[in-house]
Amino acid sequence: MKDHNKTPYLTKLKEYAERNITPFDVPGHKLGRLRNDLTDYVGEKIYKLDANAPRGLDTLSRPTGVIKEAQELMADAYNADKAYFMINGTSGAIIAMIMASVKANEKIILPRNVHKSVISALIFSGAVPVFVKPDIDHNLGIANGMSYEGFLEALEENPDAKAVLIINPTYFGVTSNIVKITKKAHEHGLIVMADEAHGAQFYFSDELPISAMAAGCDLSALSVHKTASSLTQSSVLLLKGDRVDEKRLQSTINLIQSTSPSSILMASLEASRKEMVLDGKEGINKVLKLKKKYLKKLKEIPKIEILDLEYAKKRGFPDFDPTKLVIKVSNLGITGFQAYRILFDKYSIQLELAETYLILGIITKHTIEEDFINLISALKEIAKKYKDNEPLDKIKFKYSFPNAFIRPRVAYHAPFKVVKLEDAENEISAESVMIYPPGIPMLIPGEYITRDFIEDLLFYEENGSVIFSETSGYIKVVDKEKWIKGEDYL
Ligand SMILES: Cc1ncc(COP(=O)(O)O)c(C=O)c1O
Repeated sequence: MKDHNKTPYLTKLKEYAERNITPFDVPGHKLGRLRNDLTDYVGEKIYKLDANAPRGLDTLSRPTGVIKEAQELMADAYNADKAYFMINGTSGAIIAMIMASVKANEKIILPRNVHKSVISALIFSGAVPVFVKPDIDHNLGIANGMSYEGFLEALEENPDAKAVLIINPTYFGVTSNIVKITKKAHEHGLIVMADEAHGAQFYFSDELPISAMAAGCDLSALSVHKTASSLTQSSVLLLKGDRVDEKRLQSTINLIQSTSPSSILMASLEASRKEMVLDGKEGINKVLKLKKKYLKKLKEIPKIEILDLEYAKKRGFPDFDPTKLVIKVSNLGITGFQAYRILFDKYSIQLELAETYLILGIITKHTIEEDFINLISALKEIAKKYKDNEPLDKIKFKYSFPNAFIRPRVAYHAPFKVVKLEDAENEISAESVMIYPPGIPMLIPGEYITRDFIEDLLFYEENGSVIFSETSGYIKVVDKEKWIKGEDYL
């Protein structure tokens, strides 16, 4: 193992900030020579560390100095051969890894409940998605992992597929059989990629599910900012082995990254790496122990249910991420959306997201005992208030994914028209529609619009969810009269 006490990039950045530079470069704030509303709150040091590309601080797109060293340390920490700092989140990392691995009209196998950035990658690359229907739990209204059997079936039907993408873990903590899928995929010459937006913690504790790199995946896009400890928007792309061309990967990353990467984001990646290597295991295991202690108390609250490993096993999956706190509240006669709002408005407790029947909390090594105590106390009060309610009616939410008709890239480039949502049945969508969070598209470009989809969307709208679509109440669809069928937009 390398010396993880070292922070080559951050050290150099601090030296630069302290050097009394005469700045004739950008950024315009000139190393923090300003007072504004932000400096009044956080001090001017945040600006002082915000350097663009001065001598000695290396270049993210062609690293040869301190960024190279920092990335090597990152790779070592995450059990990879190479690590790339990504300053446009895991969204950027996902787009880069897919574009570098799958060309236009080549096939990629993936579960349908992927994040929107995967759909963006399909539009950019022109790849053909082979969607595997994930396990859908209609009782909880959530989608889980991609089963090994589902993957196998897709592979048998599409022996020409070039790659597979696995979510490790899903937003709700379930993991697919990543080891088995990876092994089989490699036997058939596929590149294996993981979306580990919620899996950074897996690399630091034996009490958590297996990480993508340990499972033998070739690539992983990992949100250090979500479940490790860097600043929002900073992620890494991990590479292992030689199935993916390193040069192509770097040049693809360079296509999508800013030429002015934030030094603060990169420094925060480095600081997180040091912290997680030196203290990750102890910190995570400590918080897992705390969770165990408070889980008992949580389970004692009437009509509240908690998802755990047993749930994942029952659904046919090998593992569950215990840093996810998935709480079913619908037996109290309230939706997850209502519980989410009450917890924030009345108790100042911010959950990660709500779904129809449940709420989701994320635990990291920085979660403290008081957080559990506050949550339990609030949930107890809520349970008391709604104790006489009947469980929430079974909502007619379908969670059905529409069938694809054309590639996302073709639908994106085809001539379009905008129609009222109610009139859109049987049209082909030219846009993505999703709820955020979790940001999993209900509809993607190229898919048929069904009545089920329209009803589900109206249901979410009534419940005050944040809906990402281009125009509320309307939808962009392929103009079939103007579209020359077969036009391919490679
Ligand atoms: C499963 C999944 N993948 C990818 C992403 C994108 O990550 P980022 O927000 O770091 O761009 C998210 C974000 O919520 C996600 O939930």
